[in-house]
Amino acid sequence: VAYPEPEKCRRIYIIHRKEITMNVLLTGGAGYIGTHTCIELINAGHTVVVADNFSNSSPKAIERVEEITGKKIPLYNIDVCNVEALDKLFAENKIDAVIHFAGLKAVGESCEIPVAYYRNNLDSTLALLEVMKKYSVANFVFSSSATVYGIPKSVPLVETMPTGCTNPYGWTKLMNEQILTDAAKADSNLSVVLLRYFNPIGAHESGRIGENPNGIPNNLMPYITQVAAGRLKRLGVFGNDYPTHDGTGVRDYIHVVDLAKGHVKAIDYAEQHKGTEIFNLGTGTGYSVLDIVKAFSKVNNIEIPYDIKPRRAGDIAECYADPTKAYEILGWKAEKNLEDMCRDSWNWQSHNINGYE
Ligand code: WQD
Repeated sequence: VAYPEPEKCRRIYIIHRKEITMNVLLTGGAGYIGTHTCIELINAGHTVVVADNFSNSSPKAIERVEEITGKKIPLYNIDVCNVEALDKLFAENKIDAVIHFAGLKAVGESCEIPVAYYRNNLDSTLALLEVMKKYSVANFVFSSSATVYGIPKSVPLVETMPTGCTNPYGWTKLMNEQILTDAAKADSNLSVVLLRYFNPIGAHESGRIGENPNGIPNNLMPYITQVAAGRLKRLGVFGNDYPTHDGTGVRDYIHVVDLAKGHVKAIDYAEQHKGTEIFNLGTGTGYSVLDIVKAFSKVNNIEIPYDIKPRRAGDIAECYADPTKAYEILGWKAEKNLEDMCRDSWNWQSHNINGYE
């Protein structure tokens, strides 16, 4: 057999690698980040299956994803903690990778009902690992969070920096990271990618999907867009006495489409590697609350009335990423800027005043 020279082999491998199509299960796939990730996976040539109990999302969001992509999406209305329900899903679909978004995610609420948070957010991961093992599914991408860094000693944040949390929600993220790391150590077949999100905002350019929080938004941007839409009267700025350039909290806001594209890179990486790898998904730039308010007003020509309020318990002054590792290893970096984020957030909210309802 006359083998082609090594360089040609490499090219063939790379070309072939890009043609790998995976069928990806997204738990919590009807949520804000999940729906955007469905679209980017489909755009990259993959297929998706969604499992969601709609406790913090709407089935209408999946209808919108089908409208945008022109693809029918198998949708399972199940609790991901339910092993039997998961088993049925895996028996009915050949799954090549799992992206685990499903989980309770409100910092304040986690302090009020910590047992429910530990029960739900940890059991779902353990149930998935059990069923994935049975069906020999080896690729696990986990939706972690910058909150695992706790109160950072310095910024920008690097993946090797110390972790430690200030609320049960954050601890469930860090405990899941530990569970998955230990599982991958014990099973040489398992590939785990832990994605530490910073602050996702923005929406798909169509304006047909976006952030749709239950009740009064905890997070800054959905609160701003609801003030702009007239659903809320004024924004409360939680503290202007932090040691930052204007006294208000600084965060690393990342466009949700950029975040979604990071997941496409992550499942491709998981397919090629074993063990566990952690990546920050952020822009590397921090903006203050008032920077966001001013940018939103400028881009959308809408005034956002606000009052300075006391600091919110558990908030930190400054948090932004060093995204170098994701660029060097995944070949990923955020491409959209703050103006894109503000414009796309408003485009979604202004065309969907009451979200998906
Ligand atoms: C951002 C900044 C607030 C609302 C949390 C979780 C993180 C992830 C995203 C889940 C802060 C200020 C906010 C408001 C304000 N969670 N703010 N008025 O707290 O950085 O991160 O949400 O997916 O894991 O920790 O995001 O948007 O709540 O706050 O002044 O009405 O805006 O003080 O400085 P946060 P946030």
